[in-house]
Amino acid sequence: MTDMNSEYAEIISLLKKQIPFEPEICIILGSGLGDFAEKVKTIKSISTGSLPGYPASTVVGHSGFLHFSNYSGKKLLIVQGRIHLYEGYSLKQCILPVYIAKCLNCRNILLTNAAGGMNKNFKPGDLMLATMLNGFNLRGRLNEIPGIATNQEEAYKVRPSKELNDIVNCAAKLEGISLREGVYWYTTGPSYETPAEIKMGINFGGDAVGMSTVHEAIYASLAGLKTASISCISNYAAGLTSKKLSHLEVIETGELIKTSFENLIKRTIELI
Ligand code: HPA
Repeated sequence: MTDMNSEYAEIISLLKKQIPFEPEICIILGSGLGDFAEKVKTIKSISTGSLPGYPASTVVGHSGFLHFSNYSGKKLLIVQGRIHLYEGYSLKQCILPVYIAKCLNCRNILLTNAAGGMNKNFKPGDLMLATMLNGFNLRGRLNEIPGIATNQEEAYKVRPSKELNDIVNCAAKLEGISLREGVYWYTTGPSYETPAEIKMGINFGGDAVGMSTVHEAIYASLAGLKTASISCISNYAAGLTSKKLSHLEVIETGELIKTSFENLIKRTIELI
């Protein structure tokens, strides 16, 4: 059992030799949102396949690249190729992109995802800022993840940082986007939920459901990064409509929402 520092030492040292700068803002792109990487100036792209031990992404719409980019004078690390627990990876592997951001001295992180809308006022194409993330605790061998074993109680309480959330809200106002706010409820996947599970999620206080982000947010906050999570509501959650859910729908809604997503992220970058 190795901790992250020793397990990923080679990745970090290889990256430090190649990166054009230390990033100020990390953006992890969710399903269907990967194109954002092309909307800003790329300075250097590093294929995650060239990093020994970096988990291969197996999901359609998640190619594996770390882009070191620039927008509005801000230095960005854009992660294309999120790693999910449902792909069979460990928690330690799933939070690797956040760990990399931390090791490169990044101070802010925007976690983006596609999610099913559970709140009856949400519709596909809406953007939601997660004010709380629930349904999931960090799990696994705590001593593998530095910083977590020392303060588990806090780990479970950490929430995305208020300051960064305020900035995202402000960016939405400036862009004329009516940004929803709500609780992101985590399910493991890989299958979409049953209608009964969605009923449970709604009763638990969830507004949107997805299969990522929560562990990244908890770890990012623990690692001292200002953290915000933005969901693209790609579909009505199971049972809330007669339409059958599919990954294709998630990708298609990503297409429709691209412009407002891009504007929101760009304006947020400017304001950070
Ligand atoms: N459920 C879980 N994850 C998702 C969904 C959903 O309905 N839509 C996009 N990601």
